[in-house]
Amino acid sequence: MTQQQTWSERRGGIQPRAPRFDFSGVPRRWFGGLALPTHLANGANLLFPMGERFFVRSVRHFEKVIADDPALLADVKAFYRQEGHHAGMHERYFEALEGQGFEIQGFLRWYRRLAYEGIERVTTPEMHLAATAALEHFTAILAEGALEQRLLDAAHPAMRELLLWHAAEEIEHKSVAFDVLKRVNPSYALRMAGLFFATVTLGGFWAAATLMFLAQDDALHPGTLRELKQVRETKGVQDRSIVRDVFWAGIKAYARRDFHPNQMDNEGLARAYLEEAFGAS
Ligand SMILES: [Fe+2]
Ligand SMILES: [Fe+2]
Repeated sequence: MTQQQTWSERRGGIQPRAPRFDFSGVPRRWFGGLALPTHLANGANLLFPMGERFFVRSVRHFEKVIADDPALLADVKAFYRQEGHHAGMHERYFEALEGQGFEIQGFLRWYRRLAYEGIERVTTPEMHLAATAALEHFTAILAEGALEQRLLDAAHPAMRELLLWHAAEEIEHKSVAFDVLKRVNPSYALRMAGLFFATVTLGGFWAAATLMFLAQDDALHPGTLRELKQVRETKGVQDRSIVRDVFWAGIKAYARRDFHPNQMDNEGLARAYLEEAFGAS
């Protein structure tokens, strides 16, 4: 085994970690005192627990298909545990959000009914897996941005540690669902249908959750949009946008016929963070 091997090439090496975070001192606008960056992250936080349990259900449905590949199966099981820890820890942050005065239960009920009691029930297991593979691609791109740009330097330390741990593990397991999908059904059309499904659902639910928080924080006005520019200028990071650099760049890469998550060169960032925070990768 060499350091150059990707996590996918040395299958069987994914390692779940279960750090604890104390959210008790997190203020309402924990991201540099700014409403939009805070609520973009809060919005994503609200989607994670149910979304990650959906990812686990989607892959587990096809576990038998990869039973003849013990290394991939070991990584699939580590993927369940990583996503389970992420879901649990983001859910613990729900209590802090309520403590900060936000009403989130109405949104969570609507999201559960529409996404998991509605859309999930009327779509096929193959579509769930294809959507999961595409959503994992988007989360890996978001993770790369978080680790590379040091954007989270402006965040409250507990939130920074939560998001960087999650980001690094997303990169660590970024190819697991994709490799299971390839074994289950390598059809390009199915992969593209999953990409479409993932883009529409992630974009729609994330925007809805962010708007819900902004409305409750009296920040639904044009001045709020300028805050993203302020973060970039404060931190001196390169100009990035979620629509262009996450969704559009992610779609273009994923739509290549020969795409594989390992082509995204971001493992070094994740390894460096895991080494720094946990002492080993
Ligand atoms: Fe996760
Ligand atoms: Fe993930």
